[in-house]
Amino acid sequence: MRPGLRVAVVGATGMVGRVLLERLESRRFPVGELLPFSSGRAHAAVRFRGRRLAAPAPSPEALRSADLAFLVSSDEIALEWGKDLARRGVWVLDDSAAFRMDPSVPLVIPEVNASELGPERRLIAGPNCTISGLAVAAAAIHRRAGVRRVRMASYQAVSGAGREALLELFGQTRRAARSLADSEPLRPLGPEKARALPAPIAFNVFPQVGRFNAEGECSEEVKVRGELRKLWGAPRLALSATTVRVPVVRGHSVAAWLELARPLAPAAAARLAASVPGVKVWKEGTYPTPRAAGGGDPVHVARIRRGAAPSELALWVVTDNLLKGAALNSIQTADALLEKGWLRPRRAA
Ligand SMILES: NC(=O)c1ccc[n+]([C@@H]2O[C@H](COP(=O)([O-])OP(=O)(O)OC[C@H]3O[C@@H](n4cnc5c(N)ncnc54)[C@H](OP(=O)(O)O)[C@@H]3O)[C@@H](O)[C@H]2O)c1
Repeated sequence: MRPGLRVAVVGATGMVGRVLLERLESRRFPVGELLPFSSGRAHAAVRFRGRRLAAPAPSPEALRSADLAFLVSSDEIALEWGKDLARRGVWVLDDSAAFRMDPSVPLVIPEVNASELGPERRLIAGPNCTISGLAVAAAAIHRRAGVRRVRMASYQAVSGAGREALLELFGQTRRAARSLADSEPLRPLGPEKARALPAPIAFNVFPQVGRFNAEGECSEEVKVRGELRKLWGAPRLALSATTVRVPVVRGHSVAAWLELARPLAPAAAARLAASVPGVKVWKEGTYPTPRAAGGGDPVHVARIRRGAAPSELALWVVTDNLLKGAALNSIQTADALLEKGWLRPRRAA
């Protein structure tokens, strides 16, 4: 039996952190000792293998003593710790955006580009939760037919914006439902202050995820383009996106149109998509929704069909943003490091 690893989780009390602990446990990841960390607020704690563990603020000594650190907190925390820990021999899996576009840091989805991993590349970034599903779903299609251009619209769950945003959705939904039920149901809902998100999200959608730049694109739209190019090793790939927040709790959906260098029949594209581990292709006439797919591991793909030209394919992809979009992908990357024999307890090294 493998000796257990010392595993630090910075942001263990957050949404990605909780799901990460759940999956480390259910997948029997070889955790010898868990070191969970939060912002240090009073009484912060998590449950792991039936035990309640305190989750204090991270300390340099504790973090540097780990074999593996999952950073599931924020860009600032990742910038503070990522390179420092990796230099000291800790394997670091970062789910923030801090290092994704750093040329010295691999951005990895194991089913797509595990070859980017290396024995000394100890700081590894996980991709944005919006592009991870499409990057996996169309990876084999891209290898066979050469995707030249992607056009996409995303329908993004509120949990993708963190715990505060989700609480905002629940609060606004309760208030709006009460007010509509008590009066005229088609009465327009009035304005409501939003704090965590740019506009009220209950019974609403808005085409903004992140901040706008000078060209009028929001940061999510810039991220998905850069990250898909890096993941697929396709620096000239064109990608136009409109990223939209929708009042869904969990599960990001993407409608995408792929322009191919070599035409591919929808049935052949479906077979290629299904050949990628972790992808579930839905039968014609059926499709996944975030309510059905949220909380599960697979990348769901459906409605693969011809687009406006023979060289264009359209598809619908649904992925759990907290799992394949973050925690699960990082655990799968750690699994790959274990298989290579690169990640092991340093005490025994
Ligand atoms: N949500 C998603 O779908 C998703 C997908 C992909 C990537 N990500 C990335 O994953 C990270 C976590 O996202 P999330 O949605 O889980 O956020 P979240 O629910 O807001 O949780 C943030 C976590 O970070 C902790 N934290 C805050 N300040 C800290 C500090 N100074 N030191 C240490 N820990 C601190 C929080 O602790 P407290 O409990 O004490 O506040 C909490 O555990 C972010 O970088 C995000 O961009 C998220």
